[in-house]
Amino acid sequence: MELINRPRRLRQNAALRKMVRETRMDKSSLIYPMFVAEGNNLKEEIPSMPGQYRYSVDRMEEKLTELCEAGVTSVMLFGIPAQKDEMGSGAYASDGIVQKAFRKAKEVCPKLYLIGDVCMCEYTSHGHCGVLQKGTVDNDRTLKLLAETALSQVQAGADMVAPSDMMDGRVLAIRRKLDEYGYINTPIMSYAVKFASSFYGPFRDAAGSAPSFGDRKSYQMDYHNRREAWKEAMLDVEEGADLIMVKPAMAYGDLIREIRDSIHLPVASYSVSGEYAMVKAASQAGFVDETSILCEMAASAYRAGTDLYISYFAKELAECMDQGIIG
Ligand code: PBG
Repeated sequence: MELINRPRRLRQNAALRKMVRETRMDKSSLIYPMFVAEGNNLKEEIPSMPGQYRYSVDRMEEKLTELCEAGVTSVMLFGIPAQKDEMGSGAYASDGIVQKAFRKAKEVCPKLYLIGDVCMCEYTSHGHCGVLQKGTVDNDRTLKLLAETALSQVQAGADMVAPSDMMDGRVLAIRRKLDEYGYINTPIMSYAVKFASSFYGPFRDAAGSAPSFGDRKSYQMDYHNRREAWKEAMLDVEEGADLIMVKPAMAYGDLIREIRDSIHLPVASYSVSGEYAMVKAASQAGFVDETSILCEMAASAYRAGTDLYISYFAKELAECMDQGIIG
């Protein structure tokens, strides 16, 4: 055979394959999203997300400790209030559910890096991500409440805030508010490129946050669009975002790459609830192997250019990295 180039030469054994691996992953880049609900002694499985739970504040410690032991260093908290109202007042209450959770998490696991998801949909009776005016979400009135929400989370112990509401101008509104109160060094991770996606279905079950009428298409992005992803990201960079997120992750690898190449800030991607639910359902049916699938999905996001990866499988991924299956 006249072949000179033989790509198989570099695939002959595991040590060599690892030496020439193009994508490297590290546990320090994993973020675990966690649901915290009002109540006592609660660890309630989310039906559409087997293996994921809603914890009451007094039961959080067990999960946080588990994560720390696995080497996951960052957690993103979502609050599920007992009562919801028109104005989503639980989102920015100083004794709101997520604020209590931040205080507890700081107390029991001071080393964990805590991120607050800033949005109103878990707290509004209508399930939209802002306040309503004539049946539609009023962008500018919502900004004030988002800024209050971010501030209250930081005051309760959040190390970083991540607005996911998709209102125009929220990053600037939050930056100004945090600065006004002296939190000049608290970073903002903007869910800048967030699509109106059916992949969020199981999350909305978990948080009871599905909109009671209409959908989120007037604020979240249309999934046919790519140039607009750049526009959203650029605007948030100008407003002072410190990190940019693309969401969902799977099915949006092209946009992770687009943002990685065009925006010179750390890029995060969020492997959302529907991705988790699909892997779980298919593996429980015996159709795919769960561990291999979750590793392959994570590697694809990192290969596409993500720096940080938010995943319900964060603990499992950390374990796979320890075992050298990926990393
Ligand atoms: C709040 C928010 C949502 C998710 C993260 N923050 C739901 C939504 O936009 O409807 C989805 C996360 C997931 O599906 O895992 N706005």
